[in-house]
Amino acid sequence: MGLEVEQVRVGSELELRVEKLVAGGDGLGRYHGLPVFVSRSVPGDRLRVRVTDRRRDYLRAEIVSIEEAGGGRREPPCPHFARCGGCDLQQIEDRLQVELKASAVHEALRRLGGIELPADLEVHAAEPFGYRLRTRVRVEPSAGGHAIGYREPKSWRMVQISACPVLTPELEAAVLGLGARLPAGEVPERLDLAAGDDGKITASPKVEGLGHGEVSRQIGDFAYAFDARCFFQGHAGLLGRLVDYVVADDRGEAAWDLYAGVGLFSLPLARRYRRVYAVEGNTVAARYARINLRRNRVRNVEITVGSVDSRLTGLPGAVDRVVVDPPRAGLTAELREALVERRPRRMTYVSCHPAALARDLRQLVSAYEISSAALFDLFPQTGHMEVVVQLARRKSELS
Ligand SMILES: C[S@@+](CC[C@H](N)C(=O)[O-])C[C@H]1O[C@@H](n2cnc3c(N)ncnc32)[C@H](O)[C@@H]1O
Repeated sequence: MGLEVEQVRVGSELELRVEKLVAGGDGLGRYHGLPVFVSRSVPGDRLRVRVTDRRRDYLRAEIVSIEEAGGGRREPPCPHFARCGGCDLQQIEDRLQVELKASAVHEALRRLGGIELPADLEVHAAEPFGYRLRTRVRVEPSAGGHAIGYREPKSWRMVQISACPVLTPELEAAVLGLGARLPAGEVPERLDLAAGDDGKITASPKVEGLGHGEVSRQIGDFAYAFDARCFFQGHAGLLGRLVDYVVADDRGEAAWDLYAGVGLFSLPLARRYRRVYAVEGNTVAARYARINLRRNRVRNVEITVGSVDSRLTGLPGAVDRVVVDPPRAGLTAELREALVERRPRRMTYVSCHPAALARDLRQLVSAYEISSAALFDLFPQTGHMEVVVQLARRKSELS
């Protein structure tokens, strides 16, 4: 006989079967009906789990033993997976990860936003390993120099690494060589690194012996410069497809590119709209966006530096197209209201957090309908889910 639900505490051990993967990458099982989120599990697993967190209406748990493995469970390819917090899905076969993410996105939007995505959600996936062009590593002093690694899940402890197979080969080589290359003495606790097309590596903050300054990536007709201090999309093999899907084939007078980064979407949008207004909050990224416009001879984009919310009133009122690509928190209530009020003909929402997307779409669908949607598997081996939704102003709203 197992425990009654009321008797379950942090540390209690339970048996359950995992039903599905949910947004964020945990498996969901139930204990006497109470949802239990189990990290690093696989749908179909029958598990003995230990409760790590008890909330009023759900539990979190970790695996104690696998009584019966779900279909598609595999031996994690990375030797550090058991302790490293960088990845959380390596126990699942690559193709199944993508299928499970697509189902999790449908479900999150339905449950949290009452949103039905088109059944034929496009799925874009590429290399499951050797793809990642940016990373943040931890550095700790060690007997021979410096140890390099990542944090353990939900902990400040570091796991020293001797491999990181999700990184592009040149970035992995740079990371693994860091310990020997870093100078003795003061070295930052964290280092951001990024790789360009040509294998050049840049690091931030600046450290003697390591590359610093810009790297470049060619995407379609444009070369984009950036460095390790600013955001750049993470999957080297999906950049072109992402840009094509986001920009799509619409044309018009004015477009807004909100949360523009180094101008990834602003530059190709400028081919389709007479004037593009880009807003970016990070001054380093905005500086690169200007550099990228100049070097690619794009003259019809205006970049404003500052928070999207504070800069909205400065943007011209008549707008045909809006692209939003916010951080995890999604759009603010003010921005949602402004987007419903301004009524561009078309809008594109690039989201890295399905729950925030669900909340935002719930309000936006009063004025827009979803014309298509796609899952981009930008972070294989992790529970991150990147979704792009194309929205068109509702017919009843068209004047
Ligand atoms: C997910 S990234 C997208 C960048 C760009 N669209 C791309 O695909 O490369 C979000 C960007 O929004 C910027 N950002 C975050 N919060 C912001 C805010 N409140 N206002 C303006 N920009 C913001 C970040 O600096 C980052 O460059």
